[in-house]
Amino acid sequence: MENYFPENFMWGGSISANQAEGAWNEDGKGISVADLAKFQPNETDYHKQWLVTRADIKSGVQTHDTTFYPKRHGNDFYHHYEEDIEKFAEMGFKTLRLSIAWSRIFPKGDEEKPNKSGIAFYNNVFKTLKKYNIEPLVTLSHYEMPLNLVLKYGGWYNRKLIKFFLNYSKTVFTEYKQYVKYWITFNEIDSIFRHPFTTAGIIEEDYPPQKLEEVIYQALHHQFIASALSTKMLKEIIPNGQMGCMITRSLDYPETCNPDDVLLAQKLNRNNYLYSDVQARGKYPSYIFNEWQKKNINVDMEKDDLDILQNNTVDFISFSYYMSLVSSINDNNKEKVGGNFITGIKNKYLKTSDWGWQIDPKGFRIALIGLYDRYQMPLWCVENGLGAKDTVNEDGSINDEYRINYLKKHIEQMNLAIRDGVKLIGYTPWGCIDLVSADTSQMSKRYGFIYVDLDDYGNGTYSRKNKKSFYWYKNVISSNGEQL
Ligand code: BG6
Repeated sequence: MENYFPENFMWGGSISANQAEGAWNEDGKGISVADLAKFQPNETDYHKQWLVTRADIKSGVQTHDTTFYPKRHGNDFYHHYEEDIEKFAEMGFKTLRLSIAWSRIFPKGDEEKPNKSGIAFYNNVFKTLKKYNIEPLVTLSHYEMPLNLVLKYGGWYNRKLIKFFLNYSKTVFTEYKQYVKYWITFNEIDSIFRHPFTTAGIIEEDYPPQKLEEVIYQALHHQFIASALSTKMLKEIIPNGQMGCMITRSLDYPETCNPDDVLLAQKLNRNNYLYSDVQARGKYPSYIFNEWQKKNINVDMEKDDLDILQNNTVDFISFSYYMSLVSSINDNNKEKVGGNFITGIKNKYLKTSDWGWQIDPKGFRIALIGLYDRYQMPLWCVENGLGAKDTVNEDGSINDEYRINYLKKHIEQMNLAIRDGVKLIGYTPWGCIDLVSADTSQMSKRYGFIYVDLDDYGNGTYSRKNKKSFYWYKNVISSNGEQL
């Protein structure tokens, strides 16, 4: 296959602070929403996996336990970052997507002055990346807001959060301006409907169920404004800085050509585009106001809000892509498969991962073309990959052919999408080093090119080992995607 990857294509990998760093209470870090994420291996209900009640918060803040709260130990990137970055460099990474834990910089979120040790930690991380010429791509908020902002202000439902987020943005833009050019405001901003506590600090039981949707839209509006104002601030502090939005691209197929199925899939796809519409086009899609009216939803906006959105759009669109979904108006009694977030009907043409995610490389190409056609803006795939159980053989090797196969097929489709005219600037597959899963808090759901010796119960040495995919990806990067 001919190779269409541009010469300066940003190959790399992606991690987040709350799933990798650990050190949840070290060097002045405050407790964050992620530190309350529970390990419940038998809980299969997606909503319950993420649900955090007031009682959960009360018991969570009283304990220093890390076994039931695996995100508190992560893969210990906090103490291994030099070794890890050296390995990323060995693979030839041009970029590393990582996030800053807001609660490391502002432990409570509403202080005026930052925590010096937190600033120093990321300074060291960025210096190390620079040593290896790895360009950081930094997410400001990846499911890790300070818990104090939830308890004292009610999370993003409160407009005051915008001010705190901007103080945080200003601090990190100023501190790291010589190191970081590429930024993302909110990871998977659309996930606010899937897990409102972790994404926006909304405690569901505080609201009557019929009001919850309005509360979420209001919180989302505040995040949109915060994102737009943070984008404006970036340009003032780092003139060549580039800001991206980030969505979960959950591509929906109609189950049949029944126009009702097609309309349903179109509606679901449009819902998914809402978030990039606001951040990339600078305005809410026209239909949303009718929908709010129909549902009696009132979103408070200040006089200048719509102008703020219009005048401060992002420079690129980033997104995660793991799977596609199928929907139908008659989905009763049909086999369902589970995704991270939504269950859909089983697609008979596709295989699923061990966690029930429908593997669809061609869907990746469809998603890329769809996004580019809609926005005509640079795209960056910042998450993709296969969560799978790995086995360490007696000789110490880890032959993760299944992961290589998954990534290979997705990279092939990425190449074809570029041929189709899509302007794709980078690819940073998820969990380039094994880390704690976002949904299930399992360590055994592994995505990495680098294995971390740690099990679901926190047992292990935390030592790192290259998998077969490590050498494979190294070759992919050095051949600029030619040798798969
Ligand atoms: C995305 C998140 O939803 O999917 C990541 O941005 C997450 O934080 C990734 O880890 C994969 O999900 P999981 O549950 O397999 O870790």
